[in-house]
Amino acid sequence: MIVKNPLPKVLICDDDRTLHLAVKSALGKDFDIRSAYTVEEAVLLLRKSNSDIILLDMDLGNGRDGLTAIPLILEIQSDIRIILFSGSTDFELVRNGMKLGAFDYIQKGCGLEELRHGFGKAIEHRELKKRTAQSQRELSQSTRHLSLIGKSKSIERIRRQIDRARTSRAPVLIQGETGTGKEVVARLLRKTLPDGMLEPFVAVDSSTIQSSVAESMLFGFEKGAFTGAEKSTPGLFEEADGGALYFDELGNMPLEIQNKLLRAIQEKEVLRIGSSRPRQLDFRVIAATNREINGMVSNGTFKDDLYQRINVLQIDLPPLRERPEDISDLLEHFSRVHAEGQPPLRFLPETLELIEKYPFPGNIRELSNLVLYLYTMSESPDVSPLDLPPKFRMQATAPVPGKSQIRVTPGMSDQDPLSEPDFYRAVEKFEKTYLTLHYQRLNSNVSKMAQELGMDRSYLHNKLKSYGIHQIKGR
Ligand SMILES: Nc1ncnc2c1ncn2[C@@H]1O[C@H](COP(=O)(O)OP(=O)(O)OP(=O)(O)O)[C@@H](O)[C@H]1O
Ligand SMILES: [Mg+2]
Repeated sequence: MIVKNPLPKVLICDDDRTLHLAVKSALGKDFDIRSAYTVEEAVLLLRKSNSDIILLDMDLGNGRDGLTAIPLILEIQSDIRIILFSGSTDFELVRNGMKLGAFDYIQKGCGLEELRHGFGKAIEHRELKKRTAQSQRELSQSTRHLSLIGKSKSIERIRRQIDRARTSRAPVLIQGETGTGKEVVARLLRKTLPDGMLEPFVAVDSSTIQSSVAESMLFGFEKGAFTGAEKSTPGLFEEADGGALYFDELGNMPLEIQNKLLRAIQEKEVLRIGSSRPRQLDFRVIAATNREINGMVSNGTFKDDLYQRINVLQIDLPPLRERPEDISDLLEHFSRVHAEGQPPLRFLPETLELIEKYPFPGNIRELSNLVLYLYTMSESPDVSPLDLPPKFRMQATAPVPGKSQIRVTPGMSDQDPLSEPDFYRAVEKFEKTYLTLHYQRLNSNVSKMAQELGMDRSYLHNKLKSYGIHQIKGR
């Protein structure tokens, strides 16, 4: 049996009876058309059953009746598409109607085909919105259990900042090195809606906004606005309506897009490409950056007024090396996350000590990768220092007393020259271990190191570079 989709429902609210007849006979096959001749009648009909669209006459009464009807209609059915229908070219009236939540405007005297097109556009928009809401719901369920792990003072402060910021709609700027959890914080800022779902969250990677399609991606476009624009499509701003728009790596936003962004954020309204009708939206801007935008403002690569607009509430995420007390909780957390049926990892105290001393340039993402590595590589769930990747075992231990007393740190077996049968490779291993330990002991001070070890500074510098030691920062 073929089940046919019901026809889209259109309620026409207009006192002109001939209009109802004309629309019914021309479009009745494609739309389920109902008639109301006054706002009161329309309200009664909507209370009885929903409609996908209402074509609302703006010339009823003195024109104000149409306007006052909009909130009334939306209160009965918030997802109805209201199309304003007016004979006058009073754009102020139309603009006010849009502000109140109308979806579109069609001028009286247009052909029936134009009405058909207008109805089609409204239905398409409604479907799209439904699909976006559905995928947002799925996403919001999958990230519902997100939490900020850590008991350090800084993480506790950030938790309090998130709770306060969640109650406001002001823009938030989240700053922190790569992998410190900026996106986690952004997602935790979402409010729970009355239906128990989290509000929409649309993430935009500012680095991908480079191309020529950036504008259409952000602001959307109307059918026929450019070659290939086959369907009217909302942009990311519209998708974030009622929720948050998250700009990742804000510092990478091209200057030419910044002006347009500022306008949209300031006015809370967007103009699709090819449309002359601005759409009023309600979204919150959250932005993240791992660069000092301040500096970019001074050298002219970031617009000052956009920065001022976004930098209202600030959340600063400290790097992991400044909060080693969070490491054990995070290891436990990621051991659960990455276990996939394996017994949870246990970290011996000396292993934990080495991990806590490591500077984690990739922050929490790097720590999460470490746990993944350990599940794959270590043979027992008890993680010993030997199971850690070499970079962890290269950390300085207690200050090295003197040249003659240099010891190889426990667990540095693959750096141990004695374990290497090839003479030249053994020398290399020794050099690398020796230089690393002194480099860290002297807090990366190459001049002092050259002096103490009796080496030529530029020769030492080249050696450090060739072993990649200069990248390891002393703690
Ligand atoms: N406090 C935390 N508790 C639990 N997981 C965290 C925490 N902070 C970060 N993570 C995890 O670390 C990883 C990196 O976090 P996220 O993507 O939020 O970082 P980011 O600062 O946005 O990084 P980037 O600058 O590279 O975009 C993710 O897997 C995230 O779930
Ligand atoms: Mg990120």
